[in-house]
Amino acid sequence: MATVKETAGSNGKAPQAATTDDAAPSIDGVVLKTEGEDRVRRRDFINIAAVSFAGIGAAAVILPVLTTMSASADVLALASIEVDVSAIQPGQAIKTSWRKQPIFIRNLMPAEIAEANKVDLGGLREPQTLAERTKPGKENWLITLGVCTHLGCVPLGAAAGEVKGEYGGYFCPCHGSHYDTAGRIRKGPAPLNLEVPEFSFLSDTIVKIG
Ligand code: FES
Repeated sequence: MATVKETAGSNGKAPQAATTDDAAPSIDGVVLKTEGEDRVRRRDFINIAAVSFAGIGAAAVILPVLTTMSASADVLALASIEVDVSAIQPGQAIKTSWRKQPIFIRNLMPAEIAEANKVDLGGLREPQTLAERTKPGKENWLITLGVCTHLGCVPLGAAAGEVKGEYGGYFCPCHGSHYDTAGRIRKGPAPLNLEVPEFSFLSDTIVKIG
């Protein structure tokens, strides 16, 4: 019989496999896995290895293209953009792009600000207040990368009529990550909040990103 010692996770809790398998034998806290479970883990590893090789193959194809574009990429890395947000009404958002990444600029309604501020930070995966993610006096302007922190998809919720998820912010449908009105991850596999880029207001209506 194969044995696997499960160590505590970073949050100090025992891993799920140890807590959900009450019937699993243990010695001094060491959970003994069955051969069947071991086979499952081997199969998972094979699947992961196959995906990794596919990724390496893709990188090998893409690398020459990136090399030829390196000069423009350097220029892009330094670039900033200025956006006139005066036409974005409360409750609306726009998508733009910066350094080839999608950016969401959202004008939060008072109710959305209140919703964000009443959340218990202790229950958040990445605890951050709305104030920490916006600028003083301009908490209504939520500016984030439109890139899901799970696998990098572009979440829904910035365009009119798009699904905003269970917490009224953004929703990434590929694996079901839900972000709230402060762009914080609340449900699903994404590990982190939507990233807030470096930005500043040049005036009441012009924001500089980068
Ligand atoms: S990439 Fe967004 S949930 Fe997977």
